[in-house]
Amino acid sequence: MQVQTPSNISETSYTRTDWQQGYLSQPNEYDYWIEEIDGEIPPNLEGTLFRNGPGLLDVGGQPIHHPFDGDGMVCLIAFSGGRAYFRNRFVQTEGYLAEKAAGKLLYRGVFGTQKPGGWLANLFDLKLKNIANTNVIYWGKKLLALWEADKPHSLDPHTLETLGIDNLNGVLQESDSFSAHPRIDPSCQWDGGQPCLVNFALKSGVSSKIAIYEFAPDGKLLRQHTHAIPGFAFIHDMAITPNYCIFFQNPVKFNPLPFVLGWRGAAECVQFDGTQPTRIILIPRSPQGGEVQILETEPCFVFHHANAWEDGNRLYLDSICYNSFPTVEPQSDFRQLDFDTVPHGQLWHFQMDLSQKTVRHEVIEPRCCEFPVLNPQQVGRTHRYLYLGAAHAETGNAPLQAVLKIDRQTGERQIWSAAPRGFAGEPIFVPRPGGTQEDDGWVLLLSYNAANHRSQLVILDARDLKPVAKLHLKHHIPYGLHGSFTPVAFLPTV
Ligand code: CO
Repeated sequence: MQVQTPSNISETSYTRTDWQQGYLSQPNEYDYWIEEIDGEIPPNLEGTLFRNGPGLLDVGGQPIHHPFDGDGMVCLIAFSGGRAYFRNRFVQTEGYLAEKAAGKLLYRGVFGTQKPGGWLANLFDLKLKNIANTNVIYWGKKLLALWEADKPHSLDPHTLETLGIDNLNGVLQESDSFSAHPRIDPSCQWDGGQPCLVNFALKSGVSSKIAIYEFAPDGKLLRQHTHAIPGFAFIHDMAITPNYCIFFQNPVKFNPLPFVLGWRGAAECVQFDGTQPTRIILIPRSPQGGEVQILETEPCFVFHHANAWEDGNRLYLDSICYNSFPTVEPQSDFRQLDFDTVPHGQLWHFQMDLSQKTVRHEVIEPRCCEFPVLNPQQVGRTHRYLYLGAAHAETGNAPLQAVLKIDRQTGERQIWSAAPRGFAGEPIFVPRPGGTQEDDGWVLLLSYNAANHRSQLVILDARDLKPVAKLHLKHHIPYGLHGSFTPVAFLPTV
């Protein structure tokens, strides 16, 4: 039998040209009832899927350097009575409006997009555009488009019209930001079992500060506290348990000089340092406060955590880990990325013993995967099932084309793949109303289909990952980042 190398396998599940088409800009805004449907939308699927991601991959024909620098475009798909309505709108940020009017790039991007004119034009220009492109959540009767380096923008949840930058009823001060990765505690012990939204804000420097915010379902601030942590920190996400917020301080070095001098974007000045441990920062959520604890584990890089839970003095965590973090190079084109030369995400499990101050870890799933999600009722508690965006092939690095379900109890895997011409992103789990099993629900996936250069919303039965319905949009949506589901169906009001 011929031994296939990982690169052979990954190249057979997709073509680069197909994959690249999903990175074309979508400058248009649409509103319509989705009419091309294979299968049937479950009549009891009621609510709205919101998604965010870069809608523009170029400004006035000039390509941006990295998709993370693209202007935020929010999509909604509202489900009610077996029908579905689609709408997308760009977040009308100050930068989006200014560049649209000018027809060219006016801002530098964190991930290396430079204004035209070379380094001289970019010298000492540290002004960044709040691009509002990373996540979108509905909480406290507000729809918020999130970007971790600045404040949220609030949008009208029906029309997606931008209402403006939102300081969350005065909670966020002038220089404050708000991360794109809030977590919802389904039953908070300090609020009589009510759900609460927990988020953080990071201020990085020679030493860094992490602020924790907890909000009631009506949007009111419940708790807020800030903690200093030693060293520079590049933290995108956190995990929560009933008692802790958990952060991974990835071992990176930051030399801002090339950014200040206009040679590189800020994120291109971050370098992975494999000689240093990853630090795990545990911040107590208790209103009584408590000591911040720092544990160490072997060097790895984490963007996203799947979930954490507690058992006495032990904490457990499932996260997507990379062996290292490749520096974004100024001369590179992300569309030409050689997948075989960069590490891929894998699902790792960590066990932390708080009395011994020890950490053990193991690889749960070596397949290339990202964007882990679970039943929202299990957040901070033990979970049985995880759903992830995954590569089609079992080995090697490749674009996400599939949804992988992992049963953490039995180790069983199920997979639904859109390969060879379909591409995947973050799945969203929606519990079935009245369901009693953890996996009783649907997985919603916005997938790009290169065969017709359009996107489709795939509804999978979360129990067996069999497609229940495919809703064909009339156009494509560029590969997105994160989104959320709310049980309110935001249908058109007229
Ligand atoms: Co993220």
